[in-house]
Amino acid sequence: MSSTTPWWRSAVIYQVYIRSFADGNGDGVGDIAGLRSRLPYLKSLGVDALWINPWYQSPMADGGYDVADFRAIDPLFGTVADAEQLIEEAHRHQIRVIPDIVPNHTSDQHVWFQAALAAGSGSPERERYVFRPGRGPDGAEPPNNWVSCFGGPAWTRLPDGEWYLHLYAPEQPDLNWQHPDVHAEFESILRFWFSRGVDGFRIDVAHGLVKDPELPDLRPEPADEGTARGHVEHPHWDRDEVHDIYRAWRKVAHEFPGDRAFVAEAWADTPERLAAYVRPGGLHTAFNFDFLMASWNAKDLRTVIDDSLAMLSAVGAPATWVLSNHDVMRHTSRYARQTVARWVPNERYQPEGPVDLELGTRRARAAAMLMLALPGGAYIYQGDELGLPEVEDLPETVLQDPFWERSGHTDRGRDGCRVPIPWSGTTAPFGFSPEDTSAEPWLPQPANWGEHSVQTQTGDETSMLELYRTALRLRRGNPALGDGSMTWLDAPAGVLAFRRDPGFVCVVNLSGEPYRLPDHTSILLSSGPVEDGLLATDHAVWLAV
Ligand code: GLC
Repeated sequence: MSSTTPWWRSAVIYQVYIRSFADGNGDGVGDIAGLRSRLPYLKSLGVDALWINPWYQSPMADGGYDVADFRAIDPLFGTVADAEQLIEEAHRHQIRVIPDIVPNHTSDQHVWFQAALAAGSGSPERERYVFRPGRGPDGAEPPNNWVSCFGGPAWTRLPDGEWYLHLYAPEQPDLNWQHPDVHAEFESILRFWFSRGVDGFRIDVAHGLVKDPELPDLRPEPADEGTARGHVEHPHWDRDEVHDIYRAWRKVAHEFPGDRAFVAEAWADTPERLAAYVRPGGLHTAFNFDFLMASWNAKDLRTVIDDSLAMLSAVGAPATWVLSNHDVMRHTSRYARQTVARWVPNERYQPEGPVDLELGTRRARAAAMLMLALPGGAYIYQGDELGLPEVEDLPETVLQDPFWERSGHTDRGRDGCRVPIPWSGTTAPFGFSPEDTSAEPWLPQPANWGEHSVQTQTGDETSMLELYRTALRLRRGNPALGDGSMTWLDAPAGVLAFRRDPGFVCVVNLSGEPYRLPDHTSILLSSGPVEDGLLATDHAVWLAV
């Protein structure tokens, strides 16, 4: 990687789910003060940038993804001045900062939506959202059959008889991106934060902004949707017109000095459709969820890697690799299932079967080494580096994710991957909140959470944390890693082996047999012991060759 390569082509970006990272003021909820106090930790981990989940003023109906004011920080997390201080301090540590932006919807408490409610049917205020009369004799049926991602209809009826669209919770009304005010407002919000020093944005639901203006019914009926293969034009996901918005945003980013960059949360049916977001003049990067959704199987992983790199290099964009985030079951627990099935897009992943966390941890170590050796950038979700499992037994009384209520208590939702981080000690809150705090963490931590703490793992060469630290240090110092290309090496079925130049080879053994390593000058890193030149199943090595 040359020194003139823009940072975002190879960055390792650490995702801070701010509610659960570190609590500075002792109210049991993570905040900016807590994050600031942990910047030295992030520096020593060796990450290049932080993606911070929404920190804006919000009633928290969806953990902050229901934004009431994009120019204010929620008092739970701090103030705009705190945010500015965080950005400055992070920059002093050579760490960039990328907040989330949520352009598909606002909170129902946003001034625009409140004004729309007050102004009534047919008013210009309602045109900034998607209000429609209902169907049926007295308009008692929703305007179409769209479903909310959290379950139930995507429409809610108001006392005055009109319905409004919300692809997520009813507290998250969808904006109307056919309205010029919406474009102008978001460009202004981008400028507000760019001028406060942020280095880019993660764009929430980037594939959802533009809807078919006719709002046609979904066909086939929503229940059959998951079985559709390939790309079928959809009335509200991944419509071609969405790219016009991002071309304009890229120009906004370029009004500011330095390399500001976007990453899209775009769920697309095919690698081609995903690559469309990062064509020249469009966004810089997009999460590659195909990698996250792949089964733990060498053939599937190789296909995903090849298809992603082929499509992205065709448009000149770097890949980004991601194993976990705040929306999915933590990969240690996914991989802890003997059979890790490939996900079906648009469906929630709720695997069953016995959980073997030792197996999951072994695979998670190998997966991290694979991800960090691939060409492009990578994302680490807070706690990945501690090998945290999903907390699958949270009591039902504490579940907060809208999935739980909206699914009629059939889907426990995403709280299990959002449990506050264990920093130190042997009892809750495990250093998450200051010592003298009486408030409990907003989600309860398991009694054994201390086994995973930063304090427990620091200095233990066999720990997940030290594996990540070493991998990131090696990656930073090795010109073969980060942006660039890769070449597959001959290997038996079940073994992934590839070369990065100059002089680097990564081998991951997903076969059931030990694998004899190819010639090398030294082992740079291994996910477990290598004996007699043999790499055991579910292990990875980085070799100098
Ligand atoms: C994205 C976020 C998710 C949120 C949803 C609605 O998928 O990652 O957490 O619930 O958008 O904003």
